[in-house]
Amino acid sequence: MNEENDLTVILTPERRNRAHLIDILQDIQNGHGYLSKEALLEVAKFLDMPASSVWGVATFYNQFRFTAPGKRPVKVCMGTACHLAGGQLVLEATARELDIEIGGITTDREFSLERVACIGCCALAPVVTIGEQAYPRMTATKIEEVLVTIKPAASETEAGTGSRP
Ligand code: FES
Repeated sequence: MNEENDLTVILTPERRNRAHLIDILQDIQNGHGYLSKEALLEVAKFLDMPASSVWGVATFYNQFRFTAPGKRPVKVCMGTACHLAGGQLVLEATARELDIEIGGITTDREFSLERVACIGCCALAPVVTIGEQAYPRMTATKIEEVLVTIKPAASETEAGTGSRP
């Protein structure tokens, strides 16, 4: 995927207005998984805004991330239903098991961790997604078990795709 082309699709003439800044940032993140420094500079130029202002807006909202996500992004829902059902404990257990902080990425770049707002399946709270897969009614123990099961498979995939010298 070519980032320059993607931005051309997003930065269309009708959006050349500062009122569209959040929409533009959301579209870039949806397409790329994060907001790169280059993309933020391009947006600043497009909207004729200081880069520091774009950065200030982007960092104000915790929905944006500024580093590339892992191959399997782990998202722990912290919407109201999930929070009330123990989402914080699930989030802490996930961070512990992956040995990364919220917003971080594992050293092999396999997993990243973020907290997200409601993902629309509150009846199954608390919910975690790993890649495209949703894991309902998680507990700290259950998410640890899921990750322990997934991590070796991820390592094998990595080894299988690696090139030999
Ligand atoms: S609050 Fe988590 S799915 Fe709605």
